[in-house]
Amino acid sequence: MTPDDFHFLARLVRRRGGLALGDGKGAGLEQRLMPVMRRFGFRESAALIGELRLGNDTLAAAVTEAMTVNETSFFRDPPQFARLRDEMLPRLLTARGQERHLRIWSAACAAGQEVWSLAMMLDAMPLHGWTIDLVASDICGDAVARAAAGHYSQYEVMRGLSEEDVARHFVPQESGFLISDRLKRMVRFRKFNLMDSYGWLDGLDLVLCRNVLMHFDRAARLSVLERLADTMSPDGLLVLGDTETVQGCADLYQELPGGTGIYMKARAQITRLNAAI
Ligand SMILES: C[S@@+](CC[C@H](N)C(=O)[O-])C[C@H]1O[C@@H](n2cnc3c(N)ncnc32)[C@H](O)[C@@H]1O
Repeated sequence: MTPDDFHFLARLVRRRGGLALGDGKGAGLEQRLMPVMRRFGFRESAALIGELRLGNDTLAAAVTEAMTVNETSFFRDPPQFARLRDEMLPRLLTARGQERHLRIWSAACAAGQEVWSLAMMLDAMPLHGWTIDLVASDICGDAVARAAAGHYSQYEVMRGLSEEDVARHFVPQESGFLISDRLKRMVRFRKFNLMDSYGWLDGLDLVLCRNVLMHFDRAARLSVLERLADTMSPDGLLVLGDTETVQGCADLYQELPGGTGIYMKARAQITRLNAAI
């Protein structure tokens, strides 16, 4: 790929998906474009970029999705999930004891293991009479469809789940395992790009935005962190991946002691919000 084509592509996926492509020197880039080239009938990346330059929006969306990293697993980062289960969710439940309503968002859910892990944890809690609004989204339509289908291979369920978890929450299929209807009823899925408008989101008590901002460039990461803060209730919590931080947005968030990547809104933000009311 010529440097000019690379810079065009890098700008496009940055603008559309917030994603940073690095220096483009690795062989991985062309490889990741291969499925899109096959699907749209291009033999060379130059022809694909040429079509992108003409403004083909469907192709641009497919290329952006092809640049995402979809690695995930059930209960990925177990200490973080343990802290959510033992400390954070009980704290939120106490705080919401009057209204008995929780809003939770898995903001880059990939194939769904993250949100199903949350649903399993919530299913084990005494939530009779509560309304739990559990929403999961991702920029990749295929990932969202997989997540909503809730069908996983033997290998996938073995990554993070115990035999008891599988027996309790899945129905064995001819190939793999299907998430139970009880859990399916708990989650709503939608395709959503973190670079788009967050108008449909408000008053979130818990936001999981894990292992996605690490792939964004700095400006996109800061813009997402700022807008996430606006969607969260004043005492809401933000959970990031273990290599991610709120660097550059320290006035908006403070990490909870213990270093497990769980953040609450900083006092300045709470004060700002109160002033706006
Ligand atoms: C590495 S996976 C992380 C999945 C899960 N959160 C976890 O921690 O296991 C990153 C996900 O972010 C999604 N993603 C990348 N850019 C996005 C964007 N602009 N908006 C929404 N999702 C995005 C990718 O499609 C991918 O599924």
